[in-house]
Amino acid sequence: MKTLDAISKRASVREYQSRPVEKALLEKLVDAGRRAPTARAVEPWEFAVITERKTLEKIGQIADHGHFIRDAACCIAVFCKDTKYYLEDGCAATENILLAAADLGLGACWVAGDKKTYTHEVSTLLGAPPNLKLISLIPAGWPKAKPEQTKNRNLRDVLHWEKF
Ligand SMILES: Cc1cc2nc3c(=O)[nH]c(=O)nc-3n(C[C@H](O)[C@H](O)[C@H](O)COP(=O)(O)O)c2cc1C
Repeated sequence: MKTLDAISKRASVREYQSRPVEKALLEKLVDAGRRAPTARAVEPWEFAVITERKTLEKIGQIADHGHFIRDAACCIAVFCKDTKYYLEDGCAATENILLAAADLGLGACWVAGDKKTYTHEVSTLLGAPPNLKLISLIPAGWPKAKPEQTKNRNLRDVLHWEKF
């Protein structure tokens, strides 16, 4: 799939088949994450890949807007060191992972990690060192249905040539 196809086809997927995702594909997703742009080239990220059902269920229980994590084949937790641009860097890595998932035919969804009531609990559950900040949780798996992208605002609504 070409990059622009992946961008056009990516949509949040919250329902997954029970089929596992091969380790090689999970590595591809993380590899896409670590290739994201990063302010001052600090590459502050660390990625935890969770496939154990018990841990997925526990995260799904804790993350109030991510209950569907419990049914995902895996979940990638994106962490960053507390650098000046940690959030931007972590978000860039998150989007790279979502696009790579779309490219591979996997379904995935961005679940908020930063600034949430459950941020600390998820970090503790995963044994993250205290200097790392949780940016996002990315449950993924083979989608139950074909993802359909729906956008409320079209190009003409958001594009301003030269000036507003
Ligand atoms: C910063 C951020 C946090 C998000 N958090 C959640 C979340 O906690 N739970 C969830 O189901 N979706 C979450 N989403 C996904 C959005 O709901 C989704 O991207 C939006 O509805 C647009 O749909 P699309 O991804 O299919 O284009 C989040 C997206 C972003 C960018």
